[in-house]
Amino acid sequence: MRARWPRLRSFRLRIALGSTLTALAAILLLYVMASYTIVQRRAAIIDHMLSAHLAGPGFQATPQALWPATDAQLNASFGGFAPPGIGPETYALLRVDDAGEGTRYRSPAWQRILGDAAPPSGPGLHTVEGAGQSWRIGSVTQGPVTIWVAVNRSLSDAQVRASLVRFAAAIGVLAVAMGALAWYLAGRAMRPVEHLTGVMVRLTASDLDQRVSAAEEDLEFAQMVSVFNGMLDRLQRSFLQAARFSGDAAHELKTPLTILQGELERSFARAGADPVLEQGLANMLDEVRRLDSIVRKLLLLARADAGQLAIPMCPLDLRPALDELAEDIGLLDDARPVRLELPDHIAVRGDAELLRQVLHNLVSNAIKYGQPGGWIALSARCKGGQWRIDVSNASDGIAPEHRHRLFDRFYRADQSHQRRVPGVGLGLSLARDIAVAHGGTLALADANPGQVRFRLTLPAA
Ligand SMILES: Nc1ncnc2c1ncn2[C@@H]1O[C@H](COP(=O)(O)OP(=O)(O)OP(=O)(O)O)[C@@H](O)[C@H]1O
Ligand SMILES: [Mg+2]
Repeated sequence: MRARWPRLRSFRLRIALGSTLTALAAILLLYVMASYTIVQRRAAIIDHMLSAHLAGPGFQATPQALWPATDAQLNASFGGFAPPGIGPETYALLRVDDAGEGTRYRSPAWQRILGDAAPPSGPGLHTVEGAGQSWRIGSVTQGPVTIWVAVNRSLSDAQVRASLVRFAAAIGVLAVAMGALAWYLAGRAMRPVEHLTGVMVRLTASDLDQRVSAAEEDLEFAQMVSVFNGMLDRLQRSFLQAARFSGDAAHELKTPLTILQGELERSFARAGADPVLEQGLANMLDEVRRLDSIVRKLLLLARADAGQLAIPMCPLDLRPALDELAEDIGLLDDARPVRLELPDHIAVRGDAELLRQVLHNLVSNAIKYGQPGGWIALSARCKGGQWRIDVSNASDGIAPEHRHRLFDRFYRADQSHQRRVPGVGLGLSLARDIAVAHGGTLALADANPGQVRFRLTLPAA
């Protein structure tokens, strides 16, 4: 089976790494080829110089007294191939032998490095080892006299190696700089995408009229932006259609329902002594009231969706509304202890009727879904310019799988509740929309066994 490489999730990192590694591979290939060529060339130059020295006519005719000076000159000219600052090293060695008279001249270090035995002679150059170094030796024979010149190849190699190491270090620094540059350029290339993402993040159902200007984007992204804008157009159109449809439908249903409710109430009043008819009318009236409440909530939700929930920002005090609700709890058949932790005034800005509806839904939920006979608490405190209004009740808690769906439209948590407890599942979703339209929030703050607490936050006036 083929081993799978872990996939890099970041596109920017992939681009930066990919381009850096490609450039680095090209530079390394160049480096290897250049190093090989330099080493080869260097060896050829040394061989060439050595052969040229030996072939020179003046060299073979050097008078005996001048051999030390020739030796020094050879050291000086081949010393240029050694790394700088190497100290008193021997770069070249000279030996002159006469078949009859024996050795005529030897560099002082010759014996220590290359020993006593005569080195190979004859045409061409040879490589020998001496004192742990590699020497290139050439010779010339004129009559009984043979002259050898040996050049230190190890010092030349050391010089090349030092240069290549410096070059490799420079490549390392270059790689880091290339990586940084590639990272920066990849980031710049991603900017239009980030811009688009920013617009998408800011996009909410009530703010679908945002568009990205294709003219400001790079040519490569302009088409993507115009496709995105086209998609937003279609989305906005269908969203408005849907919102208008449910708004219109709810609006059209309101009048006949009001008439029906009035007729039923009048019939109920006239039903007189017929208990069966009375019961039937009472049931119908209940259903019509339920329908009426659904239609009103749907109308408000449709307005909120279309961003038309016009909130007159009037200063108002929520304390009286909370007192009223607490009184209503006190009037229940099963007396429930009510705990109040409310300041004298809860000053906010907004629509009194809508905010009353939010609080009413929270309190009626606490009554409907709280433990029978269990406590209900209403508290409010102001922190950092925000009112935190908590409505809590004694409860066995809400199962975790329901918690995040409570604010969905028509969602009701406990299936068994749905039949016994009246309601349609629109209250919390509408309450949250109203809170948001007031610049606040509504959230489930606690749902563990013991208590359920909803928190409404509103900017303080
Ligand atoms: N205090 C609470 N304790 C436990 N569950 C709750 C509480 N408040 C709400 N819920 C759950 O959240 C669901 C949604 O509440 P929501 O107020 O939106 O709808 P509803 O009360 O069922 O109907 P209505 O539209 O009449 O308000 C409820 O059906 C209930 O299951
Ligand atoms: Mg409710």
